[in-house]
Amino acid sequence: MSNSLFRTKKIENILAEGSDDSHGSAGLKRVLTVRDLTFFGIAAILGAGSFSSLGGAVFHGGPGVIILFLITAIACAFTAFCYSEFASRIPVAGSAYTYAYASFGELFAWIIGWALIMEYSIGNIYVAYSWSDYFTSFLEKCNVHIPQYLCTSYMEVKDALADGSTNPDVLAAWNNAPLVGGLRIIFDLPAFIINILITMLVYRGIKESRNFSNVMVILKMVVVLLVILVGGYLVFSKGLTPNWQPANDEGVPSFMPNGFSGVMAAVSGVFFAYIGFDAVSVLAEESKNPQRDLPRGMILSLVICTVVYILLTLVLTGAVNYRSFDGVGDPLAFIFEAQNLNVGWMQFFVAIAAVVAMTSVLLVFQMGQPRIWMSMSRDGLLPPVFQRIHPKFKTPSFSTIVTGAVVGLPILFTDKTFVLDFTSIATLFAFVLVCGGVLLIPRREKQPGKFNLPYINGQFIFPLIIAGAIILAVSLSSGYFANILNFDFSGNADYVNGKLSFMDVATSNISLIIFWLCAITLAILAFIKKYSLIPLMGLITCMYLLTGMTKNNWAWFLGWLAIGLVIYLLYGYRKSKLAVTEK
Ligand code: ALA
Repeated sequence: MSNSLFRTKKIENILAEGSDDSHGSAGLKRVLTVRDLTFFGIAAILGAGSFSSLGGAVFHGGPGVIILFLITAIACAFTAFCYSEFASRIPVAGSAYTYAYASFGELFAWIIGWALIMEYSIGNIYVAYSWSDYFTSFLEKCNVHIPQYLCTSYMEVKDALADGSTNPDVLAAWNNAPLVGGLRIIFDLPAFIINILITMLVYRGIKESRNFSNVMVILKMVVVLLVILVGGYLVFSKGLTPNWQPANDEGVPSFMPNGFSGVMAAVSGVFFAYIGFDAVSVLAEESKNPQRDLPRGMILSLVICTVVYILLTLVLTGAVNYRSFDGVGDPLAFIFEAQNLNVGWMQFFVAIAAVVAMTSVLLVFQMGQPRIWMSMSRDGLLPPVFQRIHPKFKTPSFSTIVTGAVVGLPILFTDKTFVLDFTSIATLFAFVLVCGGVLLIPRREKQPGKFNLPYINGQFIFPLIIAGAIILAVSLSSGYFANILNFDFSGNADYVNGKLSFMDVATSNISLIIFWLCAITLAILAFIKKYSLIPLMGLITCMYLLTGMTKNNWAWFLGWLAIGLVIYLLYGYRKSKLAVTEK
């Protein structure tokens, strides 16, 4: 039994199936070029993260959140190399799921496939909510008013009231909502409708989706550049650069006014902003030259977006004091409001761009999810209907409709914070497994015309990097390790911290202990097995980002994994193609 759980799929078999008519993949059209793939990457990356969750991230970390953007960019860059290596070796749809099947085996592949539902589908719920925020405020500017109870989520209103909120929008939503059988009808109608429209577009076909996406990417890039240029100019011309050193609670000017723990508290929002480059890899079966173009597309889009994020964060934290971003859901428009930089026309432009940007993110993720399910269905882990290809539109029709339902229904009863955290932890987890997977697959000779992950021997460099990180941690805070290890996890000691709960600090300490133990173990393994440096760095940086997750994030994520495991044991384990082969 234990062996079967870790049965792996041979790369040759995966490739053979990828071009096998009986699996339906031959029905997908190969139309995408490297430029299309880069555009797809940007379409998926630049969206709700930059237009919406950036505000919360800046509020937590202050200007110092730039450090987290850099750490996250480095983690994503290393991970992109690992995705590229896998994508060039296994150019079929399925992304991290397929890669895990070839390296870690079926159980891990299922776990990744299950976690990816959170990245693609649950992530899209956050984007749909943010889309709705900007769309309704755009309508407000055009004097079209939607009742509050039809443009906010029930949970958000309920939680805000429980916290004693006196926000007029919250009160209006609650007080004016129609009652049906004692239940207040409060839900985000625009978010619900955009999901239906996107599902219809994806159902219609890849070519139509691509044309739509390319136009939107150009538009949003133009407006983001405008925000950087106009905002950046005003930060300097108005002499606002001292905002990059705001006063902390003690009144001392500081780049990280809430300390490094404040910066790390922004990890969900910052990481979410980077999610998307990996979505390109699921288009393997629709690209003209996947071996060459997929890695190029992913890395190019990541580099472009990283530069944009760093500049955007500088403009935001320069334009206003970081504390002003408390509860601001539209930070890019906010900095141009009358009390801030005061540029009316920019507010209008940003509102339009945000709607456009997030539409393209919705589109890419909504295309990614059905293709992963299609791969899982081919392997027997999901029912055969998930691989059904529409005879006319050549798209995975059933999977596309189920995706629409998985995104659309929770829009009615979840809220933004919950889905943001959920998406980030699951995606980071998938990234950790992809980087680890690259360490496990055998090295291969460099092949002309294909992407080859450069092999840098990590035998000495990696242990030196870990030793350097330990020295750096201790030199920045001499009691660093003592504080982590001596923390009273029983909760008996007096504990005072206004910003984080006791359980959050305990979770962070436990995560850090596990992180450092993993780092030391990996350093020893790298020394013994001469592991490749790039996947090692991807693995360790993504693991570090996971230490920023709270107790609630872990609890929900582990609960979700447990449900997935039960489904796998009841269905996938028995129906798997590999199980049939074993018999
Ligand atoms: N990175 C994507 C966004 O920010 C998910 O919307």
